[in-house]
Order: sequence, then structure tokens, then C-alpha cells
Amino acid sequence: MKIHVFANEEELHEAAAQTIVRLLRRKPDAVLGLATGGTPVGIYAKLAAAFRRGEVSFARATTFNLDEYVGLPPDHPESYRSYMERHLFRHIDLPQERAHIPDGNAADLERECERYERLLQEAGRIDLMLLGLGHNGHIGFNEPGRQLHSRTHVAVLHPKTREANARFFRSPEEVPARAVTMGLGGIFKAVTILLVVKGADKADIVHRALTGPLTTECPASLLQLHPDLVVMLDEGAAARFGRPAPGEAQPVNGLR
Ligand code: GLP
Repeated sequence: MKIHVFANEEELHEAAAQTIVRLLRRKPDAVLGLATGGTPVGIYAKLAAAFRRGEVSFARATTFNLDEYVGLPPDHPESYRSYMERHLFRHIDLPQERAHIPDGNAADLERECERYERLLQEAGRIDLMLLGLGHNGHIGFNEPGRQLHSRTHVAVLHPKTREANARFFRSPEEVPARAVTMGLGGIFKAVTILLVVKGADKADIVHRALTGPLTTECPASLLQLHPDLVVMLDEGAAARFGRPAPGEAQPVNGLR
């Protein structure tokens, strides 16, 4: 595991975006796993800017989003399809047919999960999986509980998750109760996982996830097992990892 701590959001967003840019320059047909939520917005803005400057092309890439709400029309501003269009897809040259997001409106959700799982299998391994972290340790919508799922499945959102996401909706009741999410198997098959966490409100959970016991009660704790986990934190999220001594250089690599 490599942990990078950034003094400001700008640098964090740029570093995360450049990780993706470098991958695409090395491997133009890379398969990317993409996340939604507040965390990646700035990263997507940097990616769009890099595309505009001609530094990167997504023309041969394939993307898989982690999850989608159940029952929100695709054109609802808070569907993850709308989010991805707004923040990334409409700004880059990624072919639409290779931008995969689960269909949260499928008549038969079980079949939709199977379809998504099959697409993931056919694509082989995700080269880089971008992940955010929920306040309760969820990744994608793999929520804490007594058991976790390996495959794409329909998840019932934890009350805390609905509460956290209520800020994007007009009222908390409007937050969907369920979502289709990639399972931990799909996430873990990624060659590299890039976990990005920002804000002091996530300092405890990110510390617990990366240093605490492995438990289904904190799905992100399993990330400790991944052979190529890169973590990018801002100062707020890194607070529990200890402070460097006065005069000591800010560590950018490794646990401090
Ligand atoms: C959401 C998403 C996750 C995301 C997480 C954190 O509900 N399903 O993929 O990483 O919660 O979101 P945020 O970045 O807004 O804190």
C-alpha cells in the first residue's frame, strides 16, 4: 500500500488525474473503473482539462462505473449516468458504447446484475479502479454488514449512506433505497486500486479501514489485502496517521 498525502485539493485532484493520464498514455485501451460522489468531481475536471490540452485520449478506453441507484430515471440529475455525463463523459472522447454503468431501471434487476457481471468478465481485468470511501466504510455501495458480495448485486443502502447522499437531493426521502453495485470481487480484480479520500470527517474511517482489523463491518478494510493499493488523502483525511515532526519533510509515500 502506498499512501500519498496532499496539502491541498488541487494537488490531490491533479495527482489522481495524472495517474489515469499516465495509464492511458501507456495503455490507450485501458479499462477504467469509475466512482461517483463528491470526491471524484475535481479529478474528472482535471481529466477533462488534460483532454482539452491534448494530453490524453479516451478513444480506445473502456469504463465501468461502480454503481447506479435503482429507480431514478437516467436523466434525473442525480442518477450516476447523469453525473458521469455532466462531470466527465461529455467533455472527453470516450465512445458511448464503452462507457458502462449499471441500469438501475432494468425491469429485471437480477438479470441486469448478471449482464453487468458478464460485461466485466468479458473486459478482463480493470486496469485502474478509482474508489471513494463512504463514512461507514462502504466502497461502491458495498455496505457494512454480516456478509459481503463478490459479484454485482442489488444493495440496500445503509441509513447513513442515504443520509450522507441526501445533500444531493431535494429531500432525504428522495434518496433511492437501493442501488446496483459492483461486488468486491469485481473491484478486487483491478490491477491497481486508487482510493481517494478527502476531509476531516473521513479521518477516522480511512484510518480504521487501512490499519484496523479486516471486517465485513468495514468493507474498505479488505482493501488492505490488495497487492497494488494507492491511497491519496488530503490533510484532513490523513489526520489520524500522525503528524510529521517539525522540520520533517511532508511524507508523500508510505504510512507515516
Ligand atoms: C457514494 C458512492 C460511492 C462513493 C461514496 C462516497 O454513495 N456510491 O462510490 O465513493 O458514497 O461519496 P463522497 O465522495 O460523496 O463522500
